[in-house]
Amino acid sequence: MLLLGLESSCDETGAAVVRDDGVVLSDVVHSQVELHAAYGGVVPELASRDHARNVAPVVREALSRAGVTLDALDGIAVTHRPGLVGALLVGVQVAKGLAWAAGKPLVGVDHLMGHLLAIFLEREGETPPPPPEFPFVALLASGGHTALFRVDGPTTDAVHELGGTRDDAAGEAFDKVAKLLGLGYPGGPVVDRLATSGDPSVFPLDAPMSFGAPGASLEMSFSGIKTRIATHVRERTTPLSDGEVAGICASFQRAVTTVLAEKLVAAARRESVRHVVLGGGVAANSELRRRVTELALAHGITPHLPDKKSCTDNAAMIAYAGAMRLARGEHDTWDLVATSQTALPRATRKGRGKR
Ligand code: KG4
Ligand code: ZN
Repeated sequence: MLLLGLESSCDETGAAVVRDDGVVLSDVVHSQVELHAAYGGVVPELASRDHARNVAPVVREALSRAGVTLDALDGIAVTHRPGLVGALLVGVQVAKGLAWAAGKPLVGVDHLMGHLLAIFLEREGETPPPPPEFPFVALLASGGHTALFRVDGPTTDAVHELGGTRDDAAGEAFDKVAKLLGLGYPGGPVVDRLATSGDPSVFPLDAPMSFGAPGASLEMSFSGIKTRIATHVRERTTPLSDGEVAGICASFQRAVTTVLAEKLVAAARRESVRHVVLGGGVAANSELRRRVTELALAHGITPHLPDKKSCTDNAAMIAYAGAMRLARGEHDTWDLVATSQTALPRATRKGRGKR
């Protein structure tokens, strides 16, 4: 099967053509980062307008790079939740139009399913390591979501949350810390880069809700660590030196990646599964990748890390997740709606408990 996928849930307009064995024939991403950078975060109205401007050329480019026409497709998959509703609507309406015009099934995809299954994508020119076996435990860490999932199969009904953040998502914390340090948006990649040269002992931070702390669980919290940095920056009377900024980045990244790696491996052990998987933008973080690899191998668990292009938002993962639904005979009707919330049931309530 061959699917066209569309992604417009946040600040990337994506279209991709993917086979149901995970082979990516094309994957086009138009990033809006420059558009939103001046505002320090995504401006929803600007995002929707930019998606509307770029979606047609992005789709055309994806079909042309794959060397296919709409006739060759078996279905059209589109992210319809969760995300910014105005942004999602652009992709959903375009997907409906294309599916109707070409007489192909329309398949709505939950964006989080895309991230969880991105590990199965095979890009041209790569010899990917063997894919994970079901069941596996996945850490999905992005700008909007951070949680651990037990994944028994490639569809929503086979995915169960084991624990998630009680407040900020990990990517959101990276973005907020970068903003506090005057490093711009998005924060993850720049904090990742600066952390490599920083000395974490400049500003030591504990890993929040780690297993060293009493009452620790698979739940997480990232707002306290961000507040500690905010207070430190506010109380400073002189500007931070480059060395101090790099040190804070290193310390923050170490604390966050410690807790993410530790909880992922603990969850896998608790569930008695032998494979762990990363997904979402934060999965591109070099320290997280290293720590997860080391800790998993130390416990006889196989780590599976998607390539960095598959971690951040893209339409290839949406096409693949759509193919998994279509393979089960599932598709949607013309009344498919865009919704801000995920369909995956939450185990962790936001705002709950002591951090
Ligand atoms: O998955 P994604 O592209 O979009 C959402 O679904 O949210 O994730 C974006 C998030 C942003 O918060 C960004 O700062 C973070 O992923 N991110 C990173 C890195 N690259 C992107 N965080 C840490 N280290 C990175 N290298
Ligand atoms: Zn995402």
